[in-house]
Amino acid sequence: MNTQDILSAASLEELEKLRLHYLGKSGVITEKMKAFGSLSIEEKKIQGALLNTQKETIQQAIQQRKQFLELQKMNEELESQWKDITLPTRCSDTGSRHPISKTIELIKDYFTTQGFILKDGPEIEDEFHNFDALNIPAHHPARQSHDTFFLKDSTLLMRTHTSNAQIRTMEKEKPPYRILSVGRVYRSDAPDATHSPVFHQYEGLVIEKGIHMGHLKGCLADFFRYVFNIPNLPIRFRPSFFPFTEPSAEMDIQFNKKTGEIGKGSDWLEMGGCGMVHPNVIKNCGLDPHEHSGFAFGFGVERLAMIRFGIADLRGFFTNDTHFLSHYNS
Ligand code: PHE
Repeated sequence: MNTQDILSAASLEELEKLRLHYLGKSGVITEKMKAFGSLSIEEKKIQGALLNTQKETIQQAIQQRKQFLELQKMNEELESQWKDITLPTRCSDTGSRHPISKTIELIKDYFTTQGFILKDGPEIEDEFHNFDALNIPAHHPARQSHDTFFLKDSTLLMRTHTSNAQIRTMEKEKPPYRILSVGRVYRSDAPDATHSPVFHQYEGLVIEKGIHMGHLKGCLADFFRYVFNIPNLPIRFRPSFFPFTEPSAEMDIQFNKKTGEIGKGSDWLEMGGCGMVHPNVIKNCGLDPHEHSGFAFGFGVERLAMIRFGIADLRGFFTNDTHFLSHYNS
């Protein structure tokens, strides 16, 4: 029995035709089987064995060729889907800096030119560095679980502000210093247009001889006038309270509520909190408050980014919608 035709079938379709030719209802082998009836018993024995062997040989050949052709087909398919992942992407496919990243870059660029050194603080923090050292007593509402994310079965928490960076710096290094710490902070706020359980702050700390409130005001006024490129941008400091600063203030910039224009109109937009570092905080870090004094501020990155890019809803920053991101890529 010659199975060469089967073993050289060029496609699965051709193979199927050959299968029908030999083993189909009126195939060669089937026809021979049908012709059995007219044979003698002796003949039947001999022809029967022969036919069965032929049938098996054909079936094996078909199986063998089928496996080969299937594998070949799969390889062809894989080959046709091949992509050169080393090819450079088209320009329109390249990503862009997130508006929050751009704003952080601007803040860092500005303050480093003013002699501030960048510092990181951990996002997972203990109660001492997030609260106690900052003169925030145990009964302070900010410590309660509705504001703070505590880690399960732990006294550790997600920092609620970047002020932990103040403590971590003062503990480790001797003044004088000007530090800037930018990063994520966490509060259990339900997300809406102006709140998010995760957001970013930038924190400044200046401890140098003879530093007073005037330096704080000048430092922040210069920064916001630079950011908005308005040399006489009206700003104001409103008395406020933070356990870790004394006196404390909230800093506002002038804007027009109706048009959103900065430096125009008669409304005020809050930028964040600041003040002179409380002597207790300096003491808690092992420094002498009679010798060292300075100021600190902690402002929201999102607030600044929203104004700069004219974004009304803060949630856009966190949904990673590429339409949103590319819209603010100019
Ligand atoms: N940590 C304060 C907050 O998150 C901001 C602040 C920082 C205020 C430094 C004063 C000094 O609200």
